[in-house]
Amino acid sequence: MAKVGTMTQAHTSRIPGFYKLTLAERAAVVSQWAALTTAEQTALLGLGGLNAAQADHMIENAVGVYALPLGIATNFLINGADILIPMVVEEPSVVAGVSNAAKVFREGGGFVTSSDQPVMIGQIQVLDLPDIYVAAGAVMAQRAALLEAVNSVSGSIVQYGGGARDLQVRPLTNTPVGPMLIVHVLLDTRDAMGANTINTALEHIAPMIEQITGGRVNLRILSNLADQRKARAEGVIPASELATETLSGEAVVRAIVEAGAFAEADPYRAATHNKGVMNGIDAVAIATGNDWRAVEAGAHAYAARDGQYTSLTHWWQDDDGNLRGSIEMPMAVGIVGGATRVHPTAQVALKILNIQNARQLAEIMVAVGLAQNLAAIRALSTLGIQQGHMRLHARQIAVAAGAAPEQVAQVVQQMIEENNIRPERARAIVQALKGS
Ligand code: MEV
Repeated sequence: MAKVGTMTQAHTSRIPGFYKLTLAERAAVVSQWAALTTAEQTALLGLGGLNAAQADHMIENAVGVYALPLGIATNFLINGADILIPMVVEEPSVVAGVSNAAKVFREGGGFVTSSDQPVMIGQIQVLDLPDIYVAAGAVMAQRAALLEAVNSVSGSIVQYGGGARDLQVRPLTNTPVGPMLIVHVLLDTRDAMGANTINTALEHIAPMIEQITGGRVNLRILSNLADQRKARAEGVIPASELATETLSGEAVVRAIVEAGAFAEADPYRAATHNKGVMNGIDAVAIATGNDWRAVEAGAHAYAARDGQYTSLTHWWQDDDGNLRGSIEMPMAVGIVGGATRVHPTAQVALKILNIQNARQLAEIMVAVGLAQNLAAIRALSTLGIQQGHMRLHARQIAVAAGAAPEQVAQVVQQMIEENNIRPERARAIVQALKGS
């Protein structure tokens, strides 16, 4: 298990009042924090981000570039290192919520994280076999040759210490088309997410598998249930940090543990609970140019691994009466290749994170997921989600109604006091302010 804590870090991610700065001021703080070059600062502001020519090379039929807000979550302390978290997300409350949650985790010493080696699973489907068990034995008898063949096409990954790790055979006796043998290739893809590496290797050894088994290979593709490549995070929050105006810290700890138990027991709640976890994880995946659908697929398949869909996190009260939370899930992310390499802003995001390898990114991402989950269930267990959410929603409505930057707070406050957060009301208030 690796720790993120080897990261070098010179300064704190606890930046009080960061949210009160203007966008330009925040960008300046982050640029200084991460020692961004002028070109990197331009990419951060979205001015020199992905251009049309780059977009045209990334996908087919490109006609333009679609922008989303890039925010920075503050307060993260992970294995003793201060980290600013770049997040790309369209939903209000996510960045504020996760920053607040990171702050209370920080009071308990921050997150402790770990991760598996970055081993991806690739699958080869073999059919038309007279006996799937005999075929399975034949494949395992050729294990060494097959692993060598995988390494022969895995290029620089082997030089960097990755490469083929193992083979597994999984006879499926009862499928709608009869029995089949599934061969798993376990391949350490180091700092790459590894989809291309593993798919290349699978296609390369498929003819060997056909020859060894006498069967017919159909699919050759990675599995997004990357359960050999899990990351974990855990943290403690002093109960006193959770007290509200009306609730004691102990009462909030109990309510959060109850919320966690609800998600562990009920798939209907677990889906929403995990959606909250993924609000944070996806936002970092997008910021760093990673394939967030792959991360999502792995998360939900893992959450259903025992046959019943359940929570990705676990919350409990420790012997001192404090709240503890943990998360464990597959995290197939990379820091080289794909959009991570092409997208200038993804490069800047990685620089802000100040990480050296993919495992560190995976560990940061699960810490963000745990914090995001706390933000949601803490709000749900106390005030309810709408109060904070409505304020941010009101901000969006005020801006859309044409409120000048210095008017937004006033328009928001008035709509909240009137309990009337609507575009027409915002427009009327903005008009009245213009008149006065
Ligand atoms: C909203 O994007 C996410 C939440 O629904 C998560 C949850 O219910 O835990 C607030």
